[in-house]
Amino acid sequence: MKILVTGTAGFIGSQLAHRLLERGDEVIGVDNVNDYYDVNLKEARLSRLTGHAGFTEVREDVADRTVMTDIFAKHRPERVVHLAAQAGVRYSLENPNAYVDANLVGFMNILEGCRHNDVKHLVYASSSSVYGANEAMPFSVHDNVDHPLSLYAASKKANELMAHTYSHLYGLPTTGLRFFTVYGPWGRPDMALFIFTKKILAGEPIDVFNHGNHKRDFTYIDDIVEGVVRTLDQVAQPNGDWSGAAPDPSTSKAPYRIYNIGSNNPVELSRFIEIIEQRVGKKAQKNLLPMQPGDVPATYANVDDLISDVGYKPATGVEEGIANFVDWYRDFYQV
Ligand SMILES: NC(=O)c1ccc[n+]([C@@H]2O[C@H](COP(=O)([O-])OP(=O)(O)OC[C@H]3O[C@@H](n4cnc5c(N)ncnc54)[C@H](O)[C@@H]3O)[C@@H](O)[C@H]2O)c1
Repeated sequence: MKILVTGTAGFIGSQLAHRLLERGDEVIGVDNVNDYYDVNLKEARLSRLTGHAGFTEVREDVADRTVMTDIFAKHRPERVVHLAAQAGVRYSLENPNAYVDANLVGFMNILEGCRHNDVKHLVYASSSSVYGANEAMPFSVHDNVDHPLSLYAASKKANELMAHTYSHLYGLPTTGLRFFTVYGPWGRPDMALFIFTKKILAGEPIDVFNHGNHKRDFTYIDDIVEGVVRTLDQVAQPNGDWSGAAPDPSTSKAPYRIYNIGSNNPVELSRFIEIIEQRVGKKAQKNLLPMQPGDVPATYANVDDLISDVGYKPATGVEEGIANFVDWYRDFYQV
């Protein structure tokens, strides 16, 4: 298949593209390689892809309407996986406009590209952060998510709403994936595992928010990629049982659906740090701090629908996943 993947210099996008190329798909990879974090890391991820004959790199901004119109018209992808976005909850308090440009305008351009070029399935990244103020655990795609706590979360929820209108109006099959705290080799420098590993190795103190009592449904990168590939391969269908009298938020009369992809096994941040310490072989100096604005105390994914629809549940434990990350980090940065 010819698949347009956005965010291919990113953590998840680069690993997904790798997997699709390995199985023989053709990948058009769009990423503007912005400097939100270390550009060298993004270039290194990309260089693992550029050697593949089936990979075409397109270094452009998804928020540029003219450019995106041209990319869709030129490449005519059969399917699209849209992962490019301004990520990060905390940064959305500092620079909200970046989220409007990349996540709202960018998403709009993807929808229009799909609509006008007869794309057969759009899969896009949503986030566990859409659960916001919800406290019913585990988080279910059948509950409503109308109380986001950050503009990042609101932009992801907005994507789900925008996708529904295109599924309804133009019959575009869309699948939104709510990823739960993804970690693993080639991970993001603005996320906890990367920051903690780097600082513990350097003998520097780490900031531990919410005194380490946070719980996160940490999900290993390979499990995320497996979930994306499986949902991509099964095109979203209308739900014949859906009723507007009791509307289920996760499906529709239109070809629209939403899944959680999480490990379904929340781990306390303090435990997560212990495992890093063990693998690094050094104790962390911890700066215990209160919870940050925009953050939520816990995330926990109900993945029943993923299991019933695509026969899959993430299975990698944090001990194995953290070990893989620390080994990759030491090798990549030679520390
Ligand atoms: N990593 C997680 O824990 C997590 C959790 C939930 C949701 N997500 C979502 O998954 C997706 C991928 O996340 P990631 O962790 O790989 O992040 P990432 O920042 O590593 O990757 C995103 C990529 O998109 C690119 N990008 C950003 N804005 C762009 C623009 N306007 N035009 C073109 N390219 C642009 C960046 O250069 C980057 O390479 C994002 O949509 C993110 O919001 C990630």
